[in-house]
Amino acid sequence: MSIRLGDTAPDFTADSTEGTIRFHEWIGDGWAILMSHPKDFTPVCTTELGTVGKIKQEFAKRNAKALAVSVDDVASHKKWVGDIEDTQSAKVNFPILGDEGRKVADAYGMIHPNANDTLTVRSVFFIDPKKKVRAMITYPASTGRNFDEILRVLDSLQLTDQYAVATPANWKQGDDCVIVPSLQDPDEIKKRFPKGFKALRPYLRMTPQPNR
Ligand code: BEZ
Repeated sequence: MSIRLGDTAPDFTADSTEGTIRFHEWIGDGWAILMSHPKDFTPVCTTELGTVGKIKQEFAKRNAKALAVSVDDVASHKKWVGDIEDTQSAKVNFPILGDEGRKVADAYGMIHPNANDTLTVRSVFFIDPKKKVRAMITYPASTGRNFDEILRVLDSLQLTDQYAVATPANWKQGDDCVIVPSLQDPDEIKKRFPKGFKALRPYLRMTPQPNR
């Protein structure tokens, strides 16, 4: 099954290193970052999960929680956690789902058979409080994820949900934004963007980040 932006994230119940997880209930009123990992006891995954542990606070500041999944079982994850904590000087302070039956992997299309027909690719699903899939990023097993980028995407989603802006190339917190093209009424623009804007073209209007 392929998931598209705006779809409701498939709900599931699965065992994890932190007990049984009912996914939608676990998400609650916040955001969830669901990440798939090809396999336990592999080097790149070990560094990724250590990194996720270190940035838990960054997710929390954004009202978000991360959870990981691989097609190994929870007993295997629990053994691997020791290695992650030892080698990465990090706590694995988030759940890793056991998915030996591939229930989650199949529901989210995390196995790409032409890349590998048994292991999941490195998927990232950004799921909002309404349980909608808002962004997805997919990497091959050989490329570890950039977690600065994951936080940046989350920042962009949350900012653009709140204001009539979109974020330009390489945007990061504090940079100028673009006013959405659908907003044309001059009075409305003045009201929404009291700091003003610069029209480089009629369709390309830059404005300071509204909440800064
Ligand atoms: C890794 O996490 O290091 C990895 C997993 C599967 C294939 C290649 C690398």
